[in-house]
Amino acid sequence: MVSKILLVIFLLLKLVASSDHEIIFNGFTGANLSLNGLAQITSGGLLMLTNNTKEGQGHAFHPALLHFKNSSNGKPLSFDTTFVFAIRPEYPDVSGHGLAFALSPSKELPGAMPSQHLGLFNTTDIGNPIDHIFAIELDTVMTVEFYDINDNHVGIDINSLISVNPSPVAYFDSKSGRFKSLKLISGDPMQVWIEYNGMDMQLDVTISPSNVPKPDIPLVSSKVDLSSILLDDMYAGFSASTGSATGYHYILGWSFSLNGNAQPLDLSKLPPLPYQEHTKNISHLLTIALPLVAAVLLLLSIAVIFFVQRKRKKYRELVEDWELEFGPHRFPYKDLFKATKGFREENLLGFGGFGQVYKGVLPTSATEVAVKKISHESRQGMREFVAEIVSMGRLRHRNLVQLLGYCRREGELLLVYEYMPNGSLDKFLFHGEQPALTWSQRFQIIKDVSSGLHYLHEGWEQVVIHRDIKASNVLLDGEFNGKLGDFGLARLYCRGANPQTTHIVGTLGYLAPEISMTGKATTSSDVYAFGAFLLEVACGRRPIESDPSIEVPGLVEWVLGCWKMGTILEARDPKLGSDYVVKEMELVLKLGLLCSHPDPTARPSMRQVVQSLEGDAPLPPISVDALIPSTSTQRYDECFDDFVISYPSIYDHTSTTYSSPFVSGGR
Ligand SMILES: *[C@@H]1O[C@H](CO)[C@@H](O)[C@H](O)[C@H]1NC(C)=O
Ligand SMILES: *[C@@H]1O[C@H](CO)[C@@H](O)[C@H](O)[C@H]1NC(C)=O
Ligand SMILES: *[C@@H]1O[C@H](CO)[C@@H](O)[C@H](O)[C@H]1NC(C)=O
Ligand SMILES: *[C@@H]1O[C@H](CO)[C@@H](O)[C@H](O)[C@H]1NC(C)=O
Repeated sequence: MVSKILLVIFLLLKLVASSDHEIIFNGFTGANLSLNGLAQITSGGLLMLTNNTKEGQGHAFHPALLHFKNSSNGKPLSFDTTFVFAIRPEYPDVSGHGLAFALSPSKELPGAMPSQHLGLFNTTDIGNPIDHIFAIELDTVMTVEFYDINDNHVGIDINSLISVNPSPVAYFDSKSGRFKSLKLISGDPMQVWIEYNGMDMQLDVTISPSNVPKPDIPLVSSKVDLSSILLDDMYAGFSASTGSATGYHYILGWSFSLNGNAQPLDLSKLPPLPYQEHTKNISHLLTIALPLVAAVLLLLSIAVIFFVQRKRKKYRELVEDWELEFGPHRFPYKDLFKATKGFREENLLGFGGFGQVYKGVLPTSATEVAVKKISHESRQGMREFVAEIVSMGRLRHRNLVQLLGYCRREGELLLVYEYMPNGSLDKFLFHGEQPALTWSQRFQIIKDVSSGLHYLHEGWEQVVIHRDIKASNVLLDGEFNGKLGDFGLARLYCRGANPQTTHIVGTLGYLAPEISMTGKATTSSDVYAFGAFLLEVACGRRPIESDPSIEVPGLVEWVLGCWKMGTILEARDPKLGSDYVVKEMELVLKLGLLCSHPDPTARPSMRQVVQSLEGDAPLPPISVDALIPSTSTQRYDECFDDFVISYPSIYDHTSTTYSSPFVSGGR
């Protein structure tokens, strides 16, 4: 019995003896290790190679030299080692610089440098054959100078930090049959197996989470000839370093065997890692990051407020309580600003008597619009005016330019109209650059305008007086249909406008003579202006010449003269040649004269005009003598209470007030 026990003891001793050297630490409490630099054994039994000191390094080696060579043939012996480690980064996602299992001729590694040198080498001795350093590195920083593949790799270091066969950290998962990646700086414990077979020079490195058994397939498997690297006697142990990025490098347990299998670690006996290290790190991070984040947020909100205020100012509108009922007809200024590209000059269609007109495309609906920008300093009468404008927005007639809505800012009123692609009629009549309109086009436009004006006078719930009928206020759509524009705008200046401002309302040559007496616009004064318009279109001339130095008779006098001589058709626009319908031309010229009757009661109504033009009723009889214009005796130097008169002779060549609000092209 005793001999049996002795035999077992003997066999056990023999077994132990069969391995040249065995090292096993399931935790490091009381371990006989050679520590150096930052390395220390914690009270909990962890081997802590580095704490979070920057630019630090720590070494921990078995205190005795180990014999690594077969003394009979000088070849490297096999060795087998396994250890459990954990890297706890100072801040999540960044930790420096990594740790390594190392075989070294020195356990202090004098002259070695921290950070990317991992406490194993320095800048001058990399690749030096006299170093005799072999290491398996677990590198957590990508160092370009050593051609690191990433910041999370395993590499074989032979006298150099330029690793042989580096691999991103991963372990073979037998269930899925694939490698699964691992993050070295996750803070979780992981186990590494390093096996070197001295006979066939095979080196295998395997890694896995510590709760996963050793994977069947190693991560790294390389043929490595260590015969010139390994000395007869070497120290085995660990090195770790920190740089500007730091972290805690822990070894929890270590088993090593020369020329034999390393004893498995007893994972249950390994010391626990410090708890809540992460939280502390996060709170640490927060103490640094929070003030920074707060500062950035503060700056950001200041910028936003600044921006919003600037934007607000840029897009500031004037809205009063009374306008709320017009809500649907109000356009946000921002939309109009965007539609007209900030009222850019290239969008300017022209200057009307009331202000600039811009072409725009509404951002919301992609509708083409014309935006009329009217400067209006006086807020007096604005309420009535806007009410009227908006109510006129309800006017719907195919021969009226549709008002879509409005917007109001300080000193500025914006009216949004449908866009008329062919602009105003006057440029086709008086400006040579446009092709002359054919008679049938002209006659159609005349009928269109008469129809529109008839609707204003009689077709709606209240009588609307246009007040400024003339060729430049007739706009043409894509098919050259005529539409009356600008109706009602004159009202803006009839009520409370500053008489000193030279806004143009009504145009000389279109103004009925009785207006100079009464100052009042009526439907018959509109008819008078319409008469002037008829003659304009038929004769291709303005009612009175804009240059007073040219002594020509007024249009009415001239047509009347032709009629008296029995050659009324001679008054027609010479550009038409013989391309016109005699009956229609005669009708238009005579109707024009009739509408221009100095006596308002003698003028036809728009209903009669429309009927005549449509051929539904004959032209009322006209006495030629009664038509003698009395305009030559009229004076316009009075200042009317609520009316401002334009003098084309003054404005036409000095400013653009006389030109069409919808002039397009050329810009
Ligand atoms: C890190 O360890 C070194 C050496 O043990 C010690 O002097 C230093 O105070 C430690 N630093 C921190 C931040 O714990
Ligand atoms: C530690 O190990 C070395 C080498 O094996 C030995 O010389 C030394 O006496 C040991 N120290 C202790 C405290 O056991
Ligand atoms: C050492 O080498 C000799 C000769 O090649 C061989 O017989 C012996 O088994 C080797 N020893 C070990 C421990 O590998
Ligand atoms: C590099 O390390 C070697 C020893 O390994 C040492 O002799 C040398 O002085 C060191 N060089 C520097 C620049 O520290």
